[in-house]
Amino acid sequence: MRKLSHLALSISLATAALSAALPAQANLELADKSACLNCHDVSKKMVGPAFKAISERYKGKADATAYLAEKITKGGTGVWGTIPMPGMPQVAAADVKTLAEWIAKGAN
Ligand code: HEC
Repeated sequence: MRKLSHLALSISLATAALSAALPAQANLELADKSACLNCHDVSKKMVGPAFKAISERYKGKADATAYLAEKITKGGTGVWGTIPMPGMPQVAAADVKTLAEWIAKGAN
């Protein structure tokens, strides 16, 4: 009996871990589908800054999500260096909001 309940506990823990990982996976797939990952990585600097570095920079800023969403749609330059971020107007507004929120919260 003891073994069985242990097994049941590990199964429910594994399921919980899996469902917690799913939203992150969905956001990563959205970023991939939206071509963001051509220039960005979650934790490494590529052409553009790492999503985690962006989150660090705007931590505690009240309007970070709105600011980032606008920057994603319109693009811009000069914040991280001289390479411009192209505007991404083809990405739907709802997806931009999801990506901006995800990045602002640390891209986990
Ligand atoms: C062609 C390369 C490229 C693509 C594609 C790209 N980015 Fe960027 N991104 C950059 C660069 C370069 C910067 C730094 C711009 C700067 O210094 O102002 C940047 C900056 C950012 C920032 C920080 C803005 C700031 O003002 O601090 C966010 C957020 C961001 N990108 C999100 C995205 C998302 C989400 C996508 C996909 C929809 C995307 N990027 C697609 C190159 C790219």
